[in-house]
Amino acid sequence: MGESEGDTGNLTQLEFLALNSEFNIADGHARQSLTPGQSKIIDDLPLLFAEGEKRLVEELEHEAHHAFFSALGQHSYPSAPGRVLSCYSSSVAMEILSRALSETVASVALVHPTFDNIADLLRGNGLELVPLAEGPLHGDDLDAGLLASVGCVFVTTPNNPTGLVVSRERLTRLAAQCAAHGVVLALDTSFRGFDTRAHYDHYEVLNASGARWVVIEDTGKLWPTLDLKVGMLVHSENLGLPVEKIYSDILLGVSPLILAMVRRFSEDAAAGGLEDLHRFIAANRAMVRAELTGLPGVTFPDPDSRASVERIGIEDLTGTQVWAQLRKHNVYALPCRPFHWADPSQGDHTLRLALARSTDPLTQSVRALRHVLSQR
Ligand SMILES: Cc1ncc(COP(=O)(O)O)c(C=O)c1O
Repeated sequence: MGESEGDTGNLTQLEFLALNSEFNIADGHARQSLTPGQSKIIDDLPLLFAEGEKRLVEELEHEAHHAFFSALGQHSYPSAPGRVLSCYSSSVAMEILSRALSETVASVALVHPTFDNIADLLRGNGLELVPLAEGPLHGDDLDAGLLASVGCVFVTTPNNPTGLVVSRERLTRLAAQCAAHGVVLALDTSFRGFDTRAHYDHYEVLNASGARWVVIEDTGKLWPTLDLKVGMLVHSENLGLPVEKIYSDILLGVSPLILAMVRRFSEDAAAGGLEDLHRFIAANRAMVRAELTGLPGVTFPDPDSRASVERIGIEDLTGTQVWAQLRKHNVYALPCRPFHWADPSQGDHTLRLALARSTDPLTQSVRALRHVLSQR
């Protein structure tokens, strides 16, 4: 494999290949069946459409934000106009942030590994990236030299693919350090919904720090809504970046139908749907581990992860080799090299599986993986 290890494309290109397979365990979008409570909301879509036609967008947007943030413990989110910018997806929010940063900032310290389109969008806007390994990020204070050399620290929490969560104590310290150095602190919390350890009120901590901060929130990973979703760019009053102007360069707003749907899914989540989801993902994770445990050289690098993805470590094959073998069975996972955007070789021996899938096709996919790994 050696030379060709890097030739598989970025993660989204790999996810695209998987879209038409019934054994798509590649992307992190939610593709499990609707719960009965969620099906009821989909049955009500004509009513939500009528509501979207009749009511003021401002009201629907306010209600969607309130329901979403409340369901995830984010009570101190800013409610002033323009401080929560609703986008078609979190990647659109990320593009807006990247463009805004590029007007005044030259380099960004970015968590390593993480979803590669974050690095690609920052680089695509001319920003230099400095890798921030998860060990130091979750350990002591950040190096003062690093903070003096960058304009922004960007952290994904819970991280994709590792599931690591920045604790309240760590966020408090990180925000204080960013405030002291005048560095923007940016968080991508797209996987927040899966992990109650990420449900402490981040906005309370950020507001109290005095830091310039941005948070990208996302409804897109949580509910199987056929990619009808909202990404939100939330920012501090003192951010000092032209995010609202750049937002208006790109979009007017998201559909009121989607906002009304997000409100209903959030209410359902708060009324027990989130606990059901956590149980569902935990059961799928337990199934994956049970099927693969005992295979020689196979490890689970993220024992504490609650995110809707699971990494598998494979000692004597590369993730790309296993990915290619799985494709022959019409099963599509993700080799992890691209997550390691600064040094892909660090991801050579890991594969990522999506857990937000109906249990049957997921089980069949994992059995195919077990078969491939047993053939070594
Ligand atoms: C952490 C993280 N942020 C952002 C995105 C982009 O999400 P979307 O494709 O909905 O724009 C992803 C996609 O998987 C992700 O994992």
